[in-house]
Parts: sequence; C-alpha cells; structure tokens
Amino acid sequence: MTTNQLIDTLPKLHKDWDSGEPVFWGVAPEVIEFVEKNVSSGRTIETGAGFSSIGFIICGCTHTAVCPDTFVRDNILGFCDRHGIDTTQFTFVSSKSQDYLPTLPEQEFDCALVDGEHAFPIPQIDFYYLSRVLKVDGLLLVDDIDIWSCEIIHKFLHWDHDWDFIGIIGPHTAAYRKRAHREITGWGDQRFVVANSVTPAALGFLGPSR
Ligand SMILES: C[S@@+](CC[C@H](N)C(=O)[O-])C[C@H]1O[C@@H](n2cnc3c(N)ncnc32)[C@H](O)[C@@H]1O
Repeated sequence: MTTNQLIDTLPKLHKDWDSGEPVFWGVAPEVIEFVEKNVSSGRTIETGAGFSSIGFIICGCTHTAVCPDTFVRDNILGFCDRHGIDTTQFTFVSSKSQDYLPTLPEQEFDCALVDGEHAFPIPQIDFYYLSRVLKVDGLLLVDDIDIWSCEIIHKFLHWDHDWDFIGIIGPHTAAYRKRAHREITGWGDQRFVVANSVTPAALGFLGPSR
C-alpha cells in the first residue's frame, strides 16, 4: 500500500469517547506526506498511535508507538494485515507515555511525534522526553497546536535557540529540527520564558529598554 492509498482510506482506528463508535482521529494527510519526504526509513517514535503509525510503517521507518490503548494496536495490526503491510519493524508499547518515555536512552531517534494524551502537562512531559531521545538534526512534530497544551510547546520551540522552525504542516502540526543536544537548564536562556515573565530578573535578561 502507498501513502496515497492510505490517505484515500482514512481508517477509523479509534473509538468515540461517548458512543464507542469507530472514528478517524488521525493526523492530517500532510503529516504522512511530510514523513514520506523527510524521514523515510529512519528510527521514529510517537506518543499515541493510529493513522500516523501506519504512515510511519509504510514509509519504511523502524517505528515505535507508545499508547496505553491496546484496541488501537489491534486495529493498526488488523489494518496492516488486511493490506499486506509488513509490521516487523513496528513496536507498539502498551503503556502511558509518561511512564515509558523516561526509560529510553538519549539520541536514538530521527523523528518524534507528540500526539498522545493532550491534557496538561502530558504533552509537556512527552516533549521533554522526546526531545531528549531525538538525535541532533532529528525532526520533532507537535500535533494539534490548536489546543493550548500543545500550542505552548510550539511557541516555546519557536523562540528557542536549539530548534529550527520548519513550518506548519497541514492545519495544525508544527515541525522543528533539533539543532543541539543540551540539558534543559537556566530559564534566563529561554527566550519564550523570559519574554512571558514579568519579574525584575526577567526584565534584566531582556536587556535595557530603548
Ligand atoms: C489524537 S489520538 C492519536 C492519533 C494518531 N497520531 C493518529 O494519527 O491516528 C491520541 C492517542 O493518544 C492515546 N493516549 C491517551 N493517553 C495516552 C498516554 N498517556 N500516553 C500515550 N498515548 C495516550 C490514545 O489512545 C490515542 O491513540
């Protein structure tokens, strides 16, 4: 199956919270196209799972999805089986991302997608650990930046020296390239934090007013 065929299919791999009916809750098709163009065949990881997982698999990535909901795993594997998609390079970790990501070694992955639990502060936890496991020059995708808990990551990265903004992919996914592997420390070096703080110290970090 090609990525275009996957995009034409839009499989319903999730369940509506209220009715339990199958729903499509996937990333925008442009994200799959971006992965195909920019990441094909690397080591990749995402929080949450579904349509994006199948996209990574079809693109030839050695892919890990971290998601506590095993029915999503079963739906992904069932879809792949029906369409003859090889899943031997796919690992589904049935765990909450906040429990699993801290166990991973640093700088192992070429691309990471934040798209698991969206309730604050889980996207922040995902961002912290996924940025740590990314290699330098690796790509970080943050989905659903129309939701505040995800948008704040995009705003932070946009101002940060260690990340290059690539663009907004589709309607609501931000893409960044990691420039350096550094321990996060020192809020005074974080331009987004300083610019949004009103303490005298923050004003000092901003420098003299003109
Ligand atoms: C918006 S959906 C992900 C969509 C997926 N990227 C796709 O393209 O289909 C959010 C996912 O997060 C999963 N999830 C919920 N809580 C989670 C947690 N604590 N850690 C990881 N995943 C979680 C849900 O099972 C669901 O698969």
